[in-house]
Amino acid sequence: MATKTSENDWQLRIFDSLSYPTRILAPDGTIVAVNRRLKEKIDRNAEQTIGQKSEDIKHLFRTVTQSSAGGEVKPTLTDAVKKKSGKSIVFTTTDSQGRQRWEDRVFSPILDDNGDVVYIIESFRDITKIKTLEKLYSGMRELIDNVVQSSVSGIMAADRRGNIILMNRAAEELFGYTIAEADEVNIEDFYPEGVAREVMRKLRDPSLGERGKLPITKVNIRTRDGEEIPVEMTAAIIYDEGKESATAAIFNDLREKLAVEQKLKEAQAQVVQSEKMASLGRLAAGVAHEINNPLTSILMYGNIMQEKLEAGSPNKKNLDYILEDAERCKEIVKNLLAYSRQTNPKRDIFLINALVNESLGLIRDQKLFVHVEVIKDLADNLIYIDADKNQLNQVVINLIINAIDAMEGNGTLILKTYGEPRTGKAYLEVSDTGCGIPEENLNKVFDPFFTTKAPGKGTGLGLSMAYGVLEENRGHIKVKETGPQGTTIIMELPALADSDGLPFDSIG
Ligand SMILES: Nc1ncnc2c1ncn2[C@@H]1O[C@H](COP(=O)(O)OP(=O)(O)OP(=O)(O)O)[C@@H](O)[C@H]1O
Ligand SMILES: [Mg+2]
Repeated sequence: MATKTSENDWQLRIFDSLSYPTRILAPDGTIVAVNRRLKEKIDRNAEQTIGQKSEDIKHLFRTVTQSSAGGEVKPTLTDAVKKKSGKSIVFTTTDSQGRQRWEDRVFSPILDDNGDVVYIIESFRDITKIKTLEKLYSGMRELIDNVVQSSVSGIMAADRRGNIILMNRAAEELFGYTIAEADEVNIEDFYPEGVAREVMRKLRDPSLGERGKLPITKVNIRTRDGEEIPVEMTAAIIYDEGKESATAAIFNDLREKLAVEQKLKEAQAQVVQSEKMASLGRLAAGVAHEINNPLTSILMYGNIMQEKLEAGSPNKKNLDYILEDAERCKEIVKNLLAYSRQTNPKRDIFLINALVNESLGLIRDQKLFVHVEVIKDLADNLIYIDADKNQLNQVVINLIINAIDAMEGNGTLILKTYGEPRTGKAYLEVSDTGCGIPEENLNKVFDPFFTTKAPGKGTGLGLSMAYGVLEENRGHIKVKETGPQGTTIIMELPALADSDGLPFDSIG
């Protein structure tokens, strides 16, 4: 230690033992003292600089090939003197081995009793390690940011008060808020009433796995528009020194997955239904064929007997009953054959609207309509179909009678026809304001002999016959809608193309 001032010994020893290379300067920059560390690290002959003005660039690292310091050291010193407060300047240097180093030059003014600057302590600090860590950290941060941002799952974090502190792009899209807009909302607004609290309760519940962690859970979230979306989420509490500091959650939209699952379920149900229909069809066909032959002979011989019986014979009435019931059986057999598609349909070309008008006209018992308002909502373009007209009339008659039965003869019956040019399909809908079909009966109404009507009133063959007829004529029939307000049954048939290849002609 060398100094031209007369200091106390212990002060000098402190100065010497400072671990940073340090100099004491006069406010004008004249070097007053240098410590031991400076001599070791920077300039062995530093003592000879005492009394001289400090140079602009005197580097911590001896062999410097490049420096960013420029002429900024001197102004920093001047600034520290002027402002009477500590100032520092950081610059990078490249050492003789080409390694980048960071140096922090700190100027700390020492004031006298009047508050004037008497000395400046100038220390040289190597901050390479801190800077390297800083760089590494910011690189890591950038990487984590990229990972979070590019995730297809929505990622969100909130502080202890529920303020949103992080949202990635997928979360912004899912919830419909940008992170900036999320400033005004609380985490509770992102869920339906009570759900956020329930999530927090589960997170803190040690009986549900590791504390502070929520395993995959299905919940509904709420978007900015108030829409509720089913998601699969996992969440975690973030602890800082043992205390809850934030929560983070990852969300996956389940809408697509649920829609696929639902479609699969429907497809499976359809397979089961059509298998059932097929086996019922085989059974019906078997029964119908077996009964058809004896029935034909009963009717034939019965009619012969009828002709031979003398008028006034007491057996005539009995034979009438036999023949009447045999006719009823024939009707049943006919319907069973239609259901099991054993009828070889004829092909007629006709307008779908004609089905509505003819069927209405064919219903013999017009008393049925006394308290029923019939609304015809018919297509105003010409939609031709190519199918068995007789069979389809029977179907429509059955649908109308079912509708009137469901309304107990009192209500509104709507018959609607229309076409769908895109698919080339023609539709006929029969709607009523009746009692509706209970959920548990929905997949039974097309089964043969399923009826809810009183014995002798319905055989339960109307809809099964309709089903068979539609399938046989390349169409479909199903319950479109049903409920306490009424029922709509829809028939779909392929429409015939016109000479231009279009499915429908327009009327004008
Ligand atoms: N429009 C409707 N509204 C409410 N229920 C209906 C309607 N159409 C049919 N159903 C229900 O479906 C059952 C089966 O109908 P389906 O036409 O096959 O037989 P049915 O009318 O009972 O007897 P059938 O037609 O042989 O005289 C009915 O008994 C009824 O329970
Ligand atoms: Mg019926």
